Amino acid sequence: MSASASNRAKTPSDIAAMKGQSKVVCLTAYTTPVAKIVDSHCDLILVGDSVGMVLHGMPSTIGVTMEMMVMHGQAVMRGAVRALVVVDMPFGSYEESPQQAFGNAAKIMSQTGCAAVKLEGGMHMAETIAFLVKRGIPVMAHIGLTPQSVNTLGGYKVQGRGADAERLRADARAVAEAGAFSVVLEKVPASLADAITAEIGIVTVGIGASAGCDGQVLVVDDMLGIFADFKPKFVKRYAQVAQISEAAVEAYALEVRSGAFPAAEHLFAD
Ligand code: KIV
Repeated sequence: MSASASNRAKTPSDIAAMKGQSKVVCLTAYTTPVAKIVDSHCDLILVGDSVGMVLHGMPSTIGVTMEMMVMHGQAVMRGAVRALVVVDMPFGSYEESPQQAFGNAAKIMSQTGCAAVKLEGGMHMAETIAFLVKRGIPVMAHIGLTPQSVNTLGGYKVQGRGADAERLRADARAVAEAGAFSVVLEKVPASLADAITAEIGIVTVGIGASAGCDGQVLVVDDMLGIFADFKPKFVKRYAQVAQISEAAVEAYALEVRSGAFPAAEHLFAD
């Protein structure tokens, strides 16, 4: 059965066409049930390499592998119907050469069925972005705070303040000229995010950037309050799922210990 125009999956071109028309709503997802929840509300679902920290308890995104991204990409694709699914390229899978990036991006797309990949970097990744796009791989770029470079950036700091602003503007122009359909702006001053959004022709998606960006993205576990150890300033909590879950688990433990669970309605007759 072919999908109708209204429920077919969005494409990178659909997202690109939203610039100046309507805000692009994005969230991360890593599993099928969460993809099902966010799919009808989001234009774009990002299978972020934040999965390493959020689901696997890693200290950074550096240790995330191709296998992890493919597995979580497949899980999200099973739950997504209408949003565009973009899968992150993990650290070490694309920086060496455009050819290395093509091989791994093609693997991610063919093994997950996703329609685009995201990679971190500005001017220095422009050649790779152009190489991928010319060969049929839509690319979402990611500049500003690029978490895979945490060790050279010296921490998860705001990027593009003062004289550094010009470098970020050049990064944004470079990825747009290279053919990226969209660019994530992470942890940059709001006035700079606004200037970049006005200057380039592709969709800017902010995280800790500005309400003036063409769209916004958050890590779904952060905004749902599932990942509750730490809340970055740019996160707004829309629910307190960790607290609700903890109360439910406490109630279950009490009932098991008291014998109140399982009750008659949970049991089978002879
Ligand atoms: O990995 C991720 O979740 C991301 C978003 C925070 C943009 O890159």
